[in-house]
Order: sequence, then C-alpha cells, then structure tokens
Amino acid sequence: MDDTKQSQPDKPLCQKCGVNECYSYPMGETVVYTKYCSPCRLEDDLARDAKVSEEARRRAEEEITKRLNRVIPRLYQRAEITDLPDALRDTVRNLDGGKGMYLFGAVGCGKTHSLCAIAKHYIRCGIKSVVFWNWEHFLKTHRAKGADGYGVADKFLVDTAAAEILLIDDIGGNSKEASDDELEKLYLVFNNRVSNCLPTFFSSNRNPEEIGELYDQRIVSRIHGHCEIIGLEGRDRRIEKMLF
Ligand SMILES: Nc1ncnc2c1ncn2[C@@H]1O[C@H](COP(=O)(O)OP(=O)(O)OP(=O)(O)O)[C@@H](O)[C@H]1O
Ligand SMILES: [Mg+2]
Ligand SMILES: [Zn+2]
Repeated sequence: MDDTKQSQPDKPLCQKCGVNECYSYPMGETVVYTKYCSPCRLEDDLARDAKVSEEARRRAEEEITKRLNRVIPRLYQRAEITDLPDALRDTVRNLDGGKGMYLFGAVGCGKTHSLCAIAKHYIRCGIKSVVFWNWEHFLKTHRAKGADGYGVADKFLVDTAAAEILLIDDIGGNSKEASDDELEKLYLVFNNRVSNCLPTFFSSNRNPEEIGELYDQRIVSRIHGHCEIIGLEGRDRRIEKMLF
C-alpha cells in the first residue's frame, strides 16, 4: 500500500491565496502537489501573458518613436494629420494605390508641415520605409566638396529607390539651376517609382507648369499622372505666428 497517499488526506493550501487546496498529480510512486490552486494558477498565467503583450506593445511604440525621430525634421515633429485642411486630409486618406501628391503654395503656407504630417501618418500606419528628402538640401550637399558632398547622390538614389513612401520637399526652390545631372537623378528616381507603383509626395513653391518650364516636362507629365495635385492657400504662417 502507498502510505504517502493515505497519510496525506489534507491537501496543502495554495501558496498564493492560502484558501483553496492545491491539486495533486501522481509522479512515479508519490503524489506531487502544485504550488497554487487552479484559479491562482490561471490568474498567474494571464498576468504573465498580459505582461508579455504589454512589453510587446511598449517595444512597438518605442520603434515607432525611433522612426518618427529619424524621419521627421525636428521643427516639424509636432505636425499632425489633424492639423491639415479637411480637403487635404481626405485626399491623403483616399489616395489610390501607388498615387502620391504634389503640394504647392506660397512661402510659409504649410507645405513642409503637411508633408511631415503625412510622413507621420504613414509611419504610424506601420510602414517601415518612409523617406523624407529636402531637395534643396540635396542640391547643396551634392555640390559641396569634401565629406558632406561625398556619396550624397548615391545615398539619394539608394534611399529613394527603397522607400515605400517617399517625400521630397521643396522642388523648384531657390537653387533654380538644378543641373542636368541633378534633374536626371530626380527623373530617374521618380520614373522608377512610378513604374513600380510606389507613391511619391512632393512639395514646391511652384505649380506643376512652372516646374515643367524650369525642370523637365517628363517629370511634370508623371506628376499629373501619379500625384494628386493640391494648391495650398493661406498666408505665411511664420509671419502670422509672430503677429498673434
Ligand atoms: N496646419 C498647420 N498647423 C499648425 N502649424 C502649421 C501648419 N502649417 C504650417 N504650420 C507651421 O507654420 C510654419 C511654416 O510652415 P512650413 O514650414 O510648413 O511652410 P512652407 O510652406 O514649407 O514654407 P517654405 O515655402 O518656406 O518652405 C511652421 O512653423 C509650421 O510648423
Ligand atoms: Mg518648406
Ligand atoms: Zn489560490
């Protein structure tokens, strides 16, 4: 006869709640008792699962914040899609697959702010490669001699080709004379993206026709075919900010 079983009619109490009995299971010749009762075990498992999913959520949030910091210029970190005029916001939400946008308007009307809000929107949607380039900055660094200029064209081509969402701010800006070589790069990048149904968002102080005259009709034709064209209205918000 197994006297362990007989000599232990009272099951030990749960080490967690101290109220319920633990449960037993045979192990070889003896009987083993669990540390916790059934409800406490379940509660423990659920708490552990919740901790794991809380941790996963926290890590996902951290990753999104990292991407936002990496992509969005610091001055525009607080730009939100809810800041944008209704028509612009609705257009972003209802864009056809592969289509981007061309935003144009006067100095300070909010083009960069809008592009950054759009970038943020896509990053929060979980899109991994959202890439933002300022075209003026590209031109300046491309022309710079030494460390800054070195390799910038390669970086531009690689970055922009791999981006699921590409935003190019300030085309046709002050450095009016983009060289043939620089324009060819812009054309190549855009044409490649159009061919692969990858959306590109532009901003400019000029309307598409002016870009055609200044840059290249091939670029403008593709803007018409693959971007929603939106003219932004409003006064220079930088000046407004100072007034009010
Ligand atoms: N919808 C908005 N809500 C709140 N702030 C805005 C909004 N649009 C623009 N701003 C703010 O107004 C200022 C000017 O906007 P922004 O830099 O986007 O203008 P821009 O059109 O890109 O100008 P530029 O032609 O000189 O590049 C910025 O400080 C920006 O954050
Ligand atoms: Mg701007
Ligand atoms: Zn218990």
